[in-house]
Amino acid sequence: MWDFAGRDTAIDLGSATVRMHVEKDGVVCREPSLLARSRQTGRILALGTPAREMAGRNPDVTLVRPIREGAPTETDEAEWLMRRLVRHHHRKHYMARPRVVATVPSGMTPVHYRALQFAAYQAGARRLTLVPAPIAAAIGMGMTSAGRPEVAVVANIGADLTDVGVIAFGGLVTSHTAAVGGSAMDRAIVQLVRREQGVALSAAAAEQAKLEVGAVPPLGRRTAAQTVVTGRDVSSGLPRQVVLTTADVQRAIEAPLARIIEAIRAGLTGCGPEVSGDLLSVGVTLTGGCARLPGLDRLIRERVGLAARVGDETGDAAVLGAAEVLRSAGSEEPSARDSSPRPQVLTTVPDYMPEYQPEY
Ligand SMILES: Nc1ncnc2c1ncn2[C@@H]1O[C@H](COP(=O)(O)OP(=O)(O)OP(=O)(O)O)[C@@H](O)[C@H]1O
Ligand SMILES: [Mg+2]
Repeated sequence: MWDFAGRDTAIDLGSATVRMHVEKDGVVCREPSLLARSRQTGRILALGTPAREMAGRNPDVTLVRPIREGAPTETDEAEWLMRRLVRHHHRKHYMARPRVVATVPSGMTPVHYRALQFAAYQAGARRLTLVPAPIAAAIGMGMTSAGRPEVAVVANIGADLTDVGVIAFGGLVTSHTAAVGGSAMDRAIVQLVRREQGVALSAAAAEQAKLEVGAVPPLGRRTAAQTVVTGRDVSSGLPRQVVLTTADVQRAIEAPLARIIEAIRAGLTGCGPEVSGDLLSVGVTLTGGCARLPGLDRLIRERVGLAARVGDETGDAAVLGAAEVLRSAGSEEPSARDSSPRPQVLTTVPDYMPEYQPEY
């Protein structure tokens, strides 16, 4: 009966990728976090891949990143993005007022929090729940289901952020968010190529090289590879191709890697001795796109001293877990008070709390 109000919607506003999950349909959107904005009118024209194509063809269009470090940069951009996602994927789109759950960095600031809240309600959410990314990812990978260990450690290594959380007995015990991830690696590659070869690369070219030949040192049994990317010669201003090998990428990404390791250490230090004892047996589960960098799990094992494994669904885990939060919250009786609900920040796994009653 309430379907016209919109089906439960889970959104992961990533700095690199926005993902959305709609009840019954599954993950309906995985788009690059890019908006096309008209220079002349200031209007936002498109989202994701179409936005990128539009910017390549039309000089009036600039690309903007609406999400940085997991938080909206401009409220109007975030609002446009959310409204577009909600309307596009609901049949009665103009009146869709779904329950929305969004993943947020565990160290989100109150300013970002309010920007996201404002954007979600403007976009039509009738109820908003915010879930820290490590909890969402743990739920999404089934690490919190019955019969699993009571302690779970998740390091979500995305594009802008590394977000580490320790979940014990259904609640987030400690967490740490650091502004380092895949895009810091891309920037480091750009700097190295400029310094050593005198060629300015775009961040996209650097990312492509990282995806093709990137790996964490030492190589072990993997063979070194090389790739060719095109940039702009700094002195002549003309296009030039450069060859990048695995060793080049490894040299470039050393510093960001060290900061990722540091972030994981910092995320583990806050828990009490009861939980600390369990960390050794459960280890760290890695999610986020950057977790797929070959050898990263080994480096974490060596430098942090905990078993590390790459989770399943590294990319979708957080949005799947966010969707699961709404499923377990059950259906609600809409009431008049819903017009100005306060968002709920969920730092516990719903299944662990049978007495848990969301206040509507
Ligand atoms: N196979 C891979 N190897 C190495 N890095 C990868 C791989 N696949 C994706 N990445 C990197 O992962 C990052 C994107 O990850 P993800 O989609 O989790 O980010 P996000 O959720 O949008 O960002 P954030 O959570 O930081 O806001 C990019 O920097 C991308 O280059
Ligand atoms: Mg993410």
